[in-house]
Amino acid sequence: MRVVIQDDYQKMCKWAADYIANKIRNHKEDRPFVLGLPTGSSPIGVYQELVRQNQAGELSFANVVTFNMDEYVGLDHDHDQSYWYFMHDNFFDHLVDMKPENINILNGMAEDPEAECAAYEEKIASYGGIDLFMGGIGVDGHIAFNEPYTSLNSRTGLRALTTDTRIVNSRFFGNDPEKVPAFALSVGVGTVTDSKEVMILINGHNKARALAHTVEGGVSHKWTCSALQMHNGAIIACDEAACGELTVDTYKYFLDIEKDQRL
Ligand code: GLP
Repeated sequence: MRVVIQDDYQKMCKWAADYIANKIRNHKEDRPFVLGLPTGSSPIGVYQELVRQNQAGELSFANVVTFNMDEYVGLDHDHDQSYWYFMHDNFFDHLVDMKPENINILNGMAEDPEAECAAYEEKIASYGGIDLFMGGIGVDGHIAFNEPYTSLNSRTGLRALTTDTRIVNSRFFGNDPEKVPAFALSVGVGTVTDSKEVMILINGHNKARALAHTVEGGVSHKWTCSALQMHNGAIIACDEAACGELTVDTYKYFLDIEKDQRL
């Protein structure tokens, strides 16, 4: 696992965006680059930088296929808190050459959620899997909507949200946890870790415990992010604020080993 510690949120986002852009530019295979994407506040700066590069003609999305991590059950595309809306508002609508048919987002209004999720897994497989999955993390260490005790082998499916997560996410729903949907469709931990590379953004003091469990704790379904310890291409991009619960040794180790690597 790489842990790339940047001074602040802006630098973390710039580093992550440059890493992704570099992978897309260097993708020479005769198939699209397949990119997994998250919502949340953490990736917003990454999206802004990718959009900037795209609009400046430095980076093309013409050969990129995307799969989003998750979607609330019961919110349609027009709901301003649906992840479909978020992704278009913050990212896809600003890209000059993203093909709409290459955007994949789980449908939270699907009549048959099981079939929806199975089809999503099949579609990912039809592209030969995901090249790079970017994700955020919940304060309880969840990746996508894989709350504590979700199987580390889980696949795309229906998930119940914990009360804690509904409280945290209520800031987008008028601070009323009851307004936050109780269920979501989400890729599984196994879906994420099947990707060739996984990059998780972890920023801010409130994520410090999650970062420590991701890097220093044992592999446990209690902290689903810890599954990344078993992945051969896992990168944590984080800021200083999130490092508060790491031991000094761990913190120094990663600063030292990363100091001469650019991307
Ligand atoms: C939600 C999403 C996660 C995201 C998390 C953290 O629960 N399902 O994919 O990582 O929130 O969001 P934020 O980046 O806003 O802290």
